[in-house]
Amino acid sequence: MKNNLSVGYSSDELSAEACSFAERHNLACTGTDSASSELLLNFTPDYIELRDLSTNTSIHVDFISGALEHRRKYGGGRGQTIARAIGLKQGTTPPSVIDATAGLGKDAFVFACLGCSVTLLERSPIIGRLVEDAISRASHDEHFNQFIEHGFSLIQGNAIDYLTQLDETRRPEVIYLDPMYPERKKSASVKKNMQILQKLLGHDEDTDQLLDAALGCATKRVVVKRPKGAESLSEKKPSISYESKKTRYDTYIIQHA
Ligand SMILES: C[S@@+](CC[C@H](N)C(=O)[O-])C[C@H]1O[C@@H](n2cnc3c(N)ncnc32)[C@H](O)[C@@H]1O
Repeated sequence: MKNNLSVGYSSDELSAEACSFAERHNLACTGTDSASSELLLNFTPDYIELRDLSTNTSIHVDFISGALEHRRKYGGGRGQTIARAIGLKQGTTPPSVIDATAGLGKDAFVFACLGCSVTLLERSPIIGRLVEDAISRASHDEHFNQFIEHGFSLIQGNAIDYLTQLDETRRPEVIYLDPMYPERKKSASVKKNMQILQKLLGHDEDTDQLLDAALGCATKRVVVKRPKGAESLSEKKPSISYESKKTRYDTYIIQHA
């Protein structure tokens, strides 16, 4: 993690929680106004946000309202490309999914809305804290609880370690990967979310090992989200690819001996 980050709080009641998180992760803790870093994990009374102080933009995770709610209501169900990529068909039981690169949990929440049990793995404690905060805020919402009835739990840590050590009996049917990749060209269309994530995390450099760990663990398929036109991870040819407008899902079907 880059050291351009500090932890802040916008009200004194939150200082103990914010500063204890900062201490655990060896980060400075300041009031929001006195932060001197570029990024600030900011504890506010409404949510925890990641704020880019150089552009004055921020992101937080919300599983109840906003874009995710819209996608849940109108998102196209089992016909959408991501659903086909994980092998969801009419009349079949939705698979168990490990989202091994959970990020802000958007794709994971789509899987939950499709009826899958989902385990989210995220190695950044900062991003993990944003997702944890959103799960805890949503836990009182009746609709959220219906959508996650098959399971929606976050584990903070490196997915390569987790997947290679996972007990045989707990292996998921599907493992989903959406790693951070270097921007091929700086484009104005890179969404605010991604710009802040890129500032915090850079790009993932161990994706080849992650793909190998996933292929050794999933019982049915591994799905890798890629930008349309990008090369496949590890230059490994997928069994099949599904394309939507801007995205390609490379799908590796697990062959059993
Ligand atoms: C592009 S973001 C994923 C966005 C996510 N699909 C969503 O819908 O919000 C990639 C995330 O994967 C995480 N990540 C990458 N490699 C990982 C690994 N080996 N273990 C756990 N998390 C990893 C990064 O920290 C980053 O938060």
